[in-house]
Amino acid sequence: MCGIVGFLGKKEAAPILVEGLSKLEYRGYDSAGVAIINNNEIEIKKCKGRLKNLENKLEKEPVKGSIGIGHTRWATHGEPSDVNSHPHSNGKGTISVVHNGIIENYLKLREWLISKGYEFLSETDTEVIPNLVDYYYKGDLVDAVIKATGKMEGSYAIGVISTNEPDKLVAVRKDSPLIVGVGEGEYFIASDIPAVLNHTRNIYLLEDKEFVVMTKDGVELLTEDKEVVKKEIYHVTWNADAAEKGGCEDFTIKEIHEQPKALKDTMTSRIVLGEEIKLDKITLTKEQLEEVDRVYIVACGTAYHAGVVGKYVIEKLAKIPVEVDIASEFRYRDPLINEKSLLIVVSQSGETADTLAVLRDSKKKGARVLAMTNVVGSSVSREADDVLYTWAGPEIAVASTKAYITQLVAMYTFALHIATLKNTLKKEELEAIKAEMIELPGKVERILENKEEIQKFASKHYMEKDMFFLGRGLDYAVAMEASLKLKELTYIHSDAYAGGELKHGPIALIEKGTVVITSLTQRKLRDKMISNVKEVVTRGAKVMAIAYEGDTEVEKTMDSVIYIPETLDILAPVLAIIPLQLLAYYTAVQKGCDVDKPRNLAKSVTVE
Ligand code: F6R
Repeated sequence: MCGIVGFLGKKEAAPILVEGLSKLEYRGYDSAGVAIINNNEIEIKKCKGRLKNLENKLEKEPVKGSIGIGHTRWATHGEPSDVNSHPHSNGKGTISVVHNGIIENYLKLREWLISKGYEFLSETDTEVIPNLVDYYYKGDLVDAVIKATGKMEGSYAIGVISTNEPDKLVAVRKDSPLIVGVGEGEYFIASDIPAVLNHTRNIYLLEDKEFVVMTKDGVELLTEDKEVVKKEIYHVTWNADAAEKGGCEDFTIKEIHEQPKALKDTMTSRIVLGEEIKLDKITLTKEQLEEVDRVYIVACGTAYHAGVVGKYVIEKLAKIPVEVDIASEFRYRDPLINEKSLLIVVSQSGETADTLAVLRDSKKKGARVLAMTNVVGSSVSREADDVLYTWAGPEIAVASTKAYITQLVAMYTFALHIATLKNTLKKEELEAIKAEMIELPGKVERILENKEEIQKFASKHYMEKDMFFLGRGLDYAVAMEASLKLKELTYIHSDAYAGGELKHGPIALIEKGTVVITSLTQRKLRDKMISNVKEVVTRGAKVMAIAYEGDTEVEKTMDSVIYIPETLDILAPVLAIIPLQLLAYYTAVQKGCDVDKPRNLAKSVTVE
C-alpha cells in the first residue's frame, strides 16, 4: 500500500512527481505529498485527501527544483491527516523520506530517538526513518541510510533526499516493491512501472536491500557493504496506454470490457488445438510431479477465490488432493508443508505481503513453488521456482476483474498441463476442454453486450442494505467472488453461502424482499440449487439467477434471469462472474460510489 516516486534530472520535479503519483493512486489515496530540494532547502507540500488536493495546493504554491520525492498514502499508523501525510522529515528539516511499508519496531526506535533528544510531530511509523538517518549521518548519506535501515524491522521501500547532499537521491526496498527508471540524464524511483512509463522504458527491478544512489551522473546500485551490483536493464514492452482510461468513464468498466482480450492473451500459444500445452516458465517434470502428494493454493481476496476454483479443477482433472487457503491464515497455522508439497501462490500484483511470506516460508520447508501472477518481475515471480503469467495487462482499478478471469484460465491451463503429465485425462477430453476454452473470449464478449437487464436490476436495487449470493460447487466459488465485488464497489453488505448450508443457519436472514442472487451453471447440481432457491422464495426473497441460454424453465422460480452462453461446467465461472461484476459496477455507479477507488481500500496490500 502507499505509492512512492522520486525524480532526479534537469526538468522541474513537481509535475513529474505528481504525474507519477497519479499512476500510483490505486495503491492508496488518503493523502499525498512531495518534497523537493530548492536552493539548498527542502520544500514540502502535502495534504490530506486525494492527489487532486495536492495538485491544487501546488498550483497555488508552486515548488521549484529538479530533485524530489513523492507519496500517495494508504493510512496504517495514524489517521489520514495533513501532519501524518508523507514526506516526513527530521526536526532540522534537512532530511526527507517517503515510505511504503510498515516499520514494525518503530515504537522502540522512536523511544530510543526521543531519549537522544529527537522530537516527533506525527503518529506515523515512518517519521523514525529521517530521524534515524539524521542520527547516523556523519558526512555520507548512503552510509547513514544503510545504518538506519540496519536498525529497521518490517517492510519498506523508501526514497531519501537531504540538503546535506542536495544532488543525490538514495532509495532502498525490503519486502515492498520499488523499481528504478533510467532515462536520458534523468532517473526515477517508483513503487510500480506505470509511474515512470511516460519517461522511460528502461527499468531496474530491485532486490531487497539493494541501495539505489542517484546523482546527475547516473544510477549506482550497491549492496549493504557498498559493493556495486551489476544488473540488467529490463525493457518494458507493454504500452503506457494500457494504464490509461482510453475514453472510458473509469478504469473499472474499461478493465471489465478488456476481459475478452485478457483471456485471449493468457491462452495464446499455450492452448492450441492438437498441440501440447506450452508453459515456458514451468520446468516441473513428470518425475517431480509424481513426488508431489498435495497441492496448496494460497492467496488473498479475489486471487483466493480463483484458488477455490483451482482446487475443484485440479482435483477433478489431475486427481491430486488440493488445499486452498487465505495467505494471512495459512502462514500462521503451521501448515504441513514439505518437499512433497507443491505450493501455488496466486497474486495479481505479485507483491501481496502475506502471499509473499507464504511463498518464502514454504520454500524454506522444501516445497516447490509456482507463482501465478500478472506482473513480470514482481517479487513472487522472481522468488518462485515456476511462473505462470496471466496476461491481463496492467490492472489499475482497485476491484480486480480482468485479473480474476485470467487467474481462472491459468488454473485451467495448469490443471490440464499436470493432468497430461499424470495421464489422468483422455486425449479427447483434453481437446474438448481446450476447444471450449478457446470459445470463452467470444462468449464473454456476448455477455458484455447484453448489459441492459443488469442495469435495470441495479437501478431497482441500488438502495438495498443486504444482498446474498448462493451457489453450489463452482457456483459457490463464483458467489464468493461476486459477493466481494458487490461489497467493495457498492458498500452493500453481502455474503455468499453454499446452497446446502442455508438451512444450517443463514436462512434465518431471509425475510420479505431480501435480494438473493444465484447461478445455475453446474448441471449436476442445478435441481438441488433450484430447491434451495425455492426455500428462500417461500420466505419472501426476490431472486435473480444466472442461467444458461435455453434454460427458460428457471423463470418459473426466479424473479429475473440473466442468460449466459452454454459452456462446460468447469469453465462456467469465467462466464458466470461477468454479469455479477457488471451488477456490482452499475449498482456502485447508481449509488454514486467512487468505483475505481472504493473507500478504505488499496490495490496492492504490501503490509500484513
Ligand atoms: C478485490 C481485490 C483484492 C485482491 C487481493 C490480492 O477486488 O482486488 O481482494 O485480489 O488484495 O491481491 P493480489 O492478487 O495482488 O495478491
